[in-house]
This record gives sequence, C-alpha cells and structure tokens, in this order.
Amino acid sequence: MSPSSAPASRRHLRLWWRRRGRAGAVAATFAAALLAAGLLLALSYYASVVAPRAAPSSSSSSSGALVDLTLLRRAEKKGALCLDGSAPGYHLQRGSGSGSQSWLIHLEGGGWCRNLKSCASRQKSMLGSSRYMERQVEFAGILSDDEAQNPDFYDWNKVKIRYCDGASFSGNVKDEFQNGTKFFFRGQRIWKAVMDELLLKGLKHAKQAFLTGCSAGGLATYIHCDDFRALLPKDSRVKCLADGGFFLDVEDISKQRTLRAFYSEVVRLQDLKRRFLHCSSSEDPGQCFFPREVVKAIHTPVFVLNPAYDAWQVQHVLAPEASDPKHSWLDCRLDISKCNPNQLKILQGFREELHVAMSELKQKKDWGIFIDSCFVHCQSLNSLTWHSPSSPRVSNKTIAEAVGDWFFDRREVKELDCEYPCNPTCHNLVFDKPFKG
Ligand SMILES: *[C@@H]1O[C@H](CO)[C@@H](O)[C@H](O)[C@H]1NC(C)=O
Ligand SMILES: *[C@@H]1O[C@H](CO)[C@@H](O)[C@H](O)[C@H]1NC(C)=O
Repeated sequence: MSPSSAPASRRHLRLWWRRRGRAGAVAATFAAALLAAGLLLALSYYASVVAPRAAPSSSSSSSGALVDLTLLRRAEKKGALCLDGSAPGYHLQRGSGSGSQSWLIHLEGGGWCRNLKSCASRQKSMLGSSRYMERQVEFAGILSDDEAQNPDFYDWNKVKIRYCDGASFSGNVKDEFQNGTKFFFRGQRIWKAVMDELLLKGLKHAKQAFLTGCSAGGLATYIHCDDFRALLPKDSRVKCLADGGFFLDVEDISKQRTLRAFYSEVVRLQDLKRRFLHCSSSEDPGQCFFPREVVKAIHTPVFVLNPAYDAWQVQHVLAPEASDPKHSWLDCRLDISKCNPNQLKILQGFREELHVAMSELKQKKDWGIFIDSCFVHCQSLNSLTWHSPSSPRVSNKTIAEAVGDWFFDRREVKELDCEYPCNPTCHNLVFDKPFKG
C-alpha cells in the first residue's frame, strides 16, 4: 500500500498497544476501553489504509465529548470544495471561562492521493467528500474538554477541520474537470474559507491561538502556520504543533525514494509548485512538500512532536511493501519488538536522519521539540499518549506537559529521547496484519 489512502473497504484489523514491562495490563485495559467504545472499526479503518489519520484518536477512552459536524456555508460560491464537489466541514466546540478567547484548531490527517484513480476512490470516502463524514466525532487528547486529560487547553474553543482535498489543504486548481471527470483540488481554498468562517465566530478576537494537526494534517500545519499567525491580532500568542507530520525524504530498504516519488505526483496533480514558490529545491518538485523544506520559511514558533520510529513512516516510507518482495520486513513492520538486529540497525539509521533534521531546528530558539523513541503515529489525539498516568514520558514529562510548558513559555522544550528500546514508557503499536490496499 502506498501513502495514498482512499480505502475501498473498512477492514478488521486489530491493533494493540504493547507497553514494555506492563504489556498485559495495559493491553487489557486498552482493549476493554476500545471495545467498550465500539471503535474497533474506526481504528481498523485507520490501520488498514488511511494511515496518516489519527489512529490513536479513535482508540481513546470513552471520555471524549461528541462534537457535531458543521458544513461550511456558501462553499460552492467560494469554490472551497472537497474532491467530489461537496462542502467541507469542521467540528466546533465552544470554550468557556478563562478559555473563551483562546482557540485551538486541529487539521485532520489521512494521507494524500497521487493520481486521478486514487483521488476518484477517495471521492467516495470521508477523505474526499462530506457526504461520507460522521456527523459527530469524539474530542479526546489535546481536543478534550476534561482538565485531567488536557490540563492546559481543556476550556479553549476547539475546532477539528475535516480533511477532504487529498493534498494537505494546499491545492488550488481552478479547473473543475480533469480529463473529463469532475475533481476539485481546492485544499488551499478550504483552509481560507474555513478560517474566514471561524474568524467571524470569534477567532478574530483570540488572545491565544494554537494551530495543530496530525500526519497529513501535521504537514498541513507546517504549511499553514505563518498564514494562521497572519490572520490573528498582532498582540495575540500564536503557535503551531505538528504531530507525526515530519515525513522524511529517505531511501527505503531497496534504495528507492518512495515518498519523494509519491509527493512528486501529488505536487504535479494538484499543481502545488505555485504554493511552494520559495522552495529552492529544483531537482524534484516532490522535495518541496517535505517538512524539512517547508520549515525553512516558517517564522512562527512550531512544536515538532514526532516518534523517532513513526509507525506509518516505517510501513510506508522506510520499508514499504513494494520494496520488500521477500516479505522479510513483514513482522518488524507490524511490531517493532520483532525486528531483527539488522532491521533495528536500519531503524536506528532512520531515527538518526530525524535527529539530524532536528539539530537544524534546534537553532530556532522559540521552537519546541519532542521526539520520543516509540513505535506509534499521532500522539496528541488520544488521552493515553497525550496525558495519562501511563503516558509516554521524556525527561519524566508527558507530551501534554511538554507542549503546555512550551506554549506558555514555562520552559524551553527540546526533548530527544534515547534509542529504542531505552524508554519503558512508550506505547508501541502492534498491528496484526500488514497495511494493504
Ligand atoms: C489525462 O489524460 C492524458 C491522456 O490520456 C494523460 O496523458 C494525462 O496524464 C491525464 N492526466 C492526468 C492528470 O491523469
Ligand atoms: C515523575 O513525575 C511524577 C509526576 O508527574 C512524579 O510523581 C515522579 O516523582 C517523577 N519521577 C521522577 C524520577 O522525577
């Protein structure tokens, strides 16, 4: 399966967390919560294909509030449309008390589509059409309104913007037809139109604002961070958090640059070169879509939250199925504890690439970094990984504590975890079937 996403069907894939040391107890608690919430299906959906969606979000405990979907008004007039021409949408939960003038925006993830065929199947899913979106979603982790789960942002206004354009909210193709079939590549307009609507709903008066996103939404967060800053009052505190969005331009196990080739197609399909005019990388337009390029132009403070062994990237970027014809990576791809010494060495090399990229970012004084050595993907949308007694910790801080400390300038946060398997607090994902699509 490629980094595309449009799922043909929802597959039953069970996902378990394994926690070193206390595997049994945590897995059992987790499984119970999962089943109780009846979210197995949603989780499998993630695991099977969509990948850069927030897997753990759906797996969070049942304590998250359900928040209604709002469809964008006058979407057609603004030309801000999902891939299939339907109106985009978002979920808004109003803040309260001291949080009523603070806004947290979350950009949903869900991979990308690289060609008309994959975008066509995406048109028939919630990642390409609001006709398929759930009318309510659960707000957990950084979106939670429960102070115990989300100590710094629980009472803020919170918005989850649905992802339905296939290119991290960045396309802006005027033509509605591609080779005779209707396709709308309008992510940039969706971003703009949803922001305009939220500004009118109170974002305009924000004293504090936080743009966040995971996976393809994490990439979108890098892309839009400065735009977001520019929309808000000059004296407001505005920062961004990109979770699981630091995709690396690395050679995979067969020396291919799978993700770069994929991104080149996305960039060509949605004519994104215009969006990345500052990008100096002329060798291959796909390179301009990588965070390492995008961050060069960002002036607003950003927090980079990423696992060193991002499960999605291991499965799709480092050891994609197509590059593993002998299936020697099958077990390791599903469960990091099953990697052999050789594979671990390759994973450590992958971690090293991320650390090198972070050493460049470390120079940016007001940026935050939290790279834990876990095998996971998207950690801000789930109370178990975001903030709980059993959360992953680095320097004995949960992700929520680290992000809050950084957002409110309580301390500088530049956390780079030691090498796997050093951190006993990790929640490492275990998949029971390979990604297939
Ligand atoms: C449209 O069709 C032409 C001719 O079949 C093909 O060369 C081109 O790549 C197609 N465009 C896209 C975006 O798929
Ligand atoms: C880690 O933090 C917890 C509370 O967050 C505290 O109870 C514990 O003592 C700390 N452990 C260490 C080793 O500092």
